Amino acid sequence: MNPLLHSMLEHGAYTVLSDFEQQTEITALARELIIDAVSSLQGERAASAVRKNGLETLHLHLPASQIGALRDRVMVQLRPRLLGFACAVGRGLLGIEEEFFVDDYTILRVNYPYEAALNADHSSENPGIGRVDPNTRNQSSSTQRRDPVYAPKEYHRHTPPASWAHGPHKDTWTGHSRDGINLWWAISRVSKENSMIFYPGTFKKSYEVDPRSLYLAQGFPLPAPRKMALHEGEMLIFNPELLHATHLNTTPHTRIALSARINPRQPRFNPNCFYAREFWHSSTDLEAGRTDAIRQFARAEHFEASEKVPAEQPAERRNLLTLKAELTRNGQDCRLDLSHIPESAERILVLTPQGQRVLLLRSDPHWQAVQEVCPHLDISLADGHFDGKNIHCPAHGVSFRTNDGKSACKLLKLQTWKTTEEDGWLHLIA
Ligand code: FES
Ligand SMILES: [Fe+2]
Repeated sequence: MNPLLHSMLEHGAYTVLSDFEQQTEITALARELIIDAVSSLQGERAASAVRKNGLETLHLHLPASQIGALRDRVMVQLRPRLLGFACAVGRGLLGIEEEFFVDDYTILRVNYPYEAALNADHSSENPGIGRVDPNTRNQSSSTQRRDPVYAPKEYHRHTPPASWAHGPHKDTWTGHSRDGINLWWAISRVSKENSMIFYPGTFKKSYEVDPRSLYLAQGFPLPAPRKMALHEGEMLIFNPELLHATHLNTTPHTRIALSARINPRQPRFNPNCFYAREFWHSSTDLEAGRTDAIRQFARAEHFEASEKVPAEQPAERRNLLTLKAELTRNGQDCRLDLSHIPESAERILVLTPQGQRVLLLRSDPHWQAVQEVCPHLDISLADGHFDGKNIHCPAHGVSFRTNDGKSACKLLKLQTWKTTEEDGWLHLIA
């Protein structure tokens, strides 16, 4: 088997492609189509400003409520090129010899800076929503199912959809096929603070999924995140069964990426997922230039339980030690009896008499103390990676300095406590 394909399928690999066929051409085409769409939606003046100052400034010239219309305009023209390109990657770079499949669902991901997206209205689109062929849309709307438990608006705390970012997940949790290989193409520059995030070591491990968000359930400690900065035109190719997420865009720049998916064999779906991406293009059709020919792999007839793929190791759940603190004599701060803290403990949840939840992180030889939940969506930071100076939110990757609680975004800051040890007590000073 082709070594890249083998490493993708067997080891859940991810890699950056910096120089590939059609790279310059399609990156430039995507850029021009976006600028043309701005011109029709907002006028020539806005379009020239984007042309001059870069796609990273798109949020200054196009309201978030028009991102959906921009995607419609761009994708209708870009889709045949993107499908053909994905097919060429499968055949050439990945060396797939048999017939394979390219997902009809392609995404133009337009992520506005978080602060700007928060001002968008509630009719704005989630940046992770893609487009399908108009024929597919008609076909699928007649059979559309709705998961009664899935509640993305609650997970996102009713913020405008334009500000949403993906929590950690594997793609089969959300209805994508098994054995998928994803292409994720940076159309504008990507920084670590608006990138895709990978969690190495999570491939072939099973986790619990939160059915309300279809993201990783709380309670699973995450390894150090790999935040993938990319130059304009670079592409990630990866196995989406490695846990991955989107970094909340805490930069002042719009980030634009294109994505497509290849399946080296007939698509099969996770029976535990309510949804399935059933519509595909075969390499035979695409190589013959038939970009509008669709094949449907009906969910009910194409299940594959995870047992049929190589054995998965269950991931360990975190058992977070929880201790109650008591008030100190000054009546404002609180303290913990150090003899209650085992030497092996690395992080502890402290419940204060004032009703706060404090996360203690061991940073030898001392402890750092921060509020337990992330100010973005109130998700516990206890599962996030701590590098000794920063805690990385396990949901959308924002990193907070544990000494002063600051992040790259001025809207997102943690409360911190000073810690001192005295006479067998650990004092938390607000
Ligand atoms: S960054 Fe989103 S919940 Fe923390
Ligand atoms: Fe994904």
